Amino acid sequence: MPIKACVFDAYGTLFDVAAAARNAAAAPGGEALAESWPRLAETWRLKQLEYSWLRAVADDYIPFWQVTQDGLDYALELHGLTDAGLRETLLGLYERLDAYPEVPGILRDLKDAGLATAILSNGSKDMLDAAIDSAGIADVLDGAFSVEDVGVFKPHDRVYALAEERLGVTGAEVAFFSSNCWDATHAARYGFTTVWVNRGGLPLDRVGAPPAEIVDSLAGCAALVAGLG
Ligand code: LAC
Repeated sequence: MPIKACVFDAYGTLFDVAAAARNAAAAPGGEALAESWPRLAETWRLKQLEYSWLRAVADDYIPFWQVTQDGLDYALELHGLTDAGLRETLLGLYERLDAYPEVPGILRDLKDAGLATAILSNGSKDMLDAAIDSAGIADVLDGAFSVEDVGVFKPHDRVYALAEERLGVTGAEVAFFSSNCWDATHAARYGFTTVWVNRGGLPLDRVGAPPAEIVDSLAGCAALVAGLG
């Protein structure tokens, strides 16, 4: 079945989640992060995801913006960073993360090829709107679907079903891209044609179902989609 829509995870796939800590370290006053920003970014991301999974299992949904703050607070405490101003700086930067450089171009290529494009993310609607706006990609997206509308985080099936419903397509007509392997493998298990964007050169997670393709960035994905389905 031919692909009709390309659906993208947001954080880590379109938007660089390490950019907040990296940019805070490089900004005036960021000396406290000069050495530790990679570890801070990693702990923040891991705790943010872990809390989202625990909340999905416990049926205890809260907006992802709060989950993001909870993960940051854990990471700041673990790494002995107690400056309240730093917390606010990091959250402000997270609201307008850098997009990976290839993102605007590939979204344009996909639209030019007649495909629908959308985001499917744990992110709260406000978070997604801010990130899309600061990346300047609103005009190359047909939609941005937030788990807010189903009240549970990935990888629950209700999240993947949301993209099908909103786009009016079947799972087999969706090419789903995620840099989060567990997201890609669960989307594959759900029935999407899935591409794992393995930006970090990591091993395959042993959950879900294998992705159809593995790439190391989104560059060239318009050609890849033409060969899928
Ligand atoms: C998202 C997280 C999982 O955007 O990266 O849904």
